[in-house]
Amino acid sequence: MSLVLEITGNELSPDTLEPRADTETLVEAALQRFRDHPPRRILDIGTGAGCILISLLHEWPQAQGVGTDLAAGAVETARRNAERNGVAGRARFVQTNWAAGIDGVFDLIVSNPPYISREVIANLAPEVRNHDPILALDGGEDGLDAYKIILTEIKRTLAPGGWFFLEIGYDQSDSVPRLVENIGATPERVIPDLGGNPRVVECHMGITKKTLGKDS
Ligand SMILES: C[S@@+](CC[C@H](N)C(=O)[O-])C[C@H]1O[C@@H](n2cnc3c(N)ncnc32)[C@H](O)[C@@H]1O
Repeated sequence: MSLVLEITGNELSPDTLEPRADTETLVEAALQRFRDHPPRRILDIGTGAGCILISLLHEWPQAQGVGTDLAAGAVETARRNAERNGVAGRARFVQTNWAAGIDGVFDLIVSNPPYISREVIANLAPEVRNHDPILALDGGEDGLDAYKIILTEIKRTLAPGGWFFLEIGYDQSDSVPRLVENIGATPERVIPDLGGNPRVVECHMGITKKTLGKDS
């Protein structure tokens, strides 16, 4: 198991989502994909308390990462959590709209964006709705608003042969892969969480190392 849930024991703030066990699925999938060739540069879009990026940097001592969030409190919390976990020297946290202003090329991009539709949010019990910041939950009318923007940023910033991993809602295993295809990327597989629900889409853009090996 990675550090995802331990970050909860580190520090949260009113601006951060409480990390979920489901997010371990994303971290584990990325670790598995890069088992033999760890990435050098990682981008975590919508980093919250920083749990995904910090977990990955902890596992890969040679890697560097950038985490973004629109919420100033989230960025500050993620910075402190990176300090606590000994990865601050390799992590940069930026307050920005998704990946606006982030330049460079990343071997691995991860994101657990807000993906709950407005209708579902409206029907949540107030104690549930108020437990996490609305910015961390609200995926717009159909729950897909964030993915549409994030995917254009991924297209701009992913290295050739790079991989990206998106956490999804249990009912988005068709819609999100379709959006991935719309940017010319390949949704390689949808990975279930421990409860058996579709939770992560593993994707790549362009030519993978495996394909290169096969063709050359
Ligand atoms: C579902 S939470 C995930 C947080 C963390 N990555 C995790 O897995 O626990 C989504 C995050 O996206 C951030 N967010 C929402 N809108 C954003 C935007 N326009 N630009 C950057 N981050 C945004 C929220 O503040 C929140 O931290």
